[in-house]
Amino acid sequence: MNNYIELINQKLDEFMPIDYPHKIFKSMKYTVTLPGKRLRPIMCLETCKMFGGNYEDAIPTACAIEMLHAQTLIHDDLPCMDNDNYRRGKLTNHMVFGEANAVLAGDALLSYAPMIILKHSKNLEPKKLLKLMEEYFHAAGAYGVIAGQVVDIESEKLTIDPEDKDLPELLNYIHTHKTADLFKLALRSGAIIAGATDKQLEDITEFGQYLGVAFQIADDILDVTSTFEEMGKTLGKDQQEGKLTYVSLYGLEKARTDLQTYITKCDEILKNHNIESEIFNQILNKIKKA
Ligand code: IPE
Ligand code: IPE
Ligand code: MG
Ligand code: MG
Ligand code: MG
Repeated sequence: MNNYIELINQKLDEFMPIDYPHKIFKSMKYTVTLPGKRLRPIMCLETCKMFGGNYEDAIPTACAIEMLHAQTLIHDDLPCMDNDNYRRGKLTNHMVFGEANAVLAGDALLSYAPMIILKHSKNLEPKKLLKLMEEYFHAAGAYGVIAGQVVDIESEKLTIDPEDKDLPELLNYIHTHKTADLFKLALRSGAIIAGATDKQLEDITEFGQYLGVAFQIADDILDVTSTFEEMGKTLGKDQQEGKLTYVSLYGLEKARTDLQTYITKCDEILKNHNIESEIFNQILNKIKKA
């Protein structure tokens, strides 16, 4: 895991020179290179390796997905969104560079990331590159993360009534799109680079859906139970903003039980498809502890 993290950090630094206008490149690089967990790029590299590919071929794509993730974080923290002051242990992008620059840095990352894939994936044939682009644009846009974020923000206006039969589906929609879609992008991209079969792609997508939702359930729990020191970001805001989260809908106890069920499901999917990965086991164990 640490080897992957080191490699990803080194490549992110390399792929992001501070060009002119310096302000925008500094702002883009600021959030990308702060110490995140690097889960998505790790999952991309590991999936490529798992399906028999050369993980080095997946480095530009893995880094691009981390850039896209950073973009979602920069915009998620803006005053017009979640209005948060801390991220990855430091001030949020708009607190350092101002709101206009943070909006622009997010926009810039969104197109910078796929450019990195196209420019640096010298060993990938055009067919794979096209498929990667399709996956990227789908996950990054209005069918992916943005869909989840829109409904997440909308949910602040709802009355959260556990008896309301529509809310479970709405919550699942939010979790699927704002979080699981980037997990699935990371896994599927790694699989595509490795030349995985359609069946393997299907299996890893199912895994990513459960893992992504489990991860967001854990994040919802930790927003209530964890500390700034542990998470490096502003906590306790979900309740304050009246967001629809796994905890606000089902309570802490059920959130914890269901998280374990999702993790067990992830373990089963790996086992049933004979996917063996120490890295994925470590990630599952970490999420489980929320
Ligand atoms: C934060 O993701 C956003 C959510 C989907 C909850 P991470 O918890 O992976 O953030 P970093 O990359 O480690 O900062
Ligand atoms: C964020 O969900 C998901 C995205 C950034 C797309 P949250 O708003 O719960 O993430 P945190 O808690 O701010 O990291
Ligand atoms: Mg949010
Ligand atoms: Mg947020
Ligand atoms: Mg959260």
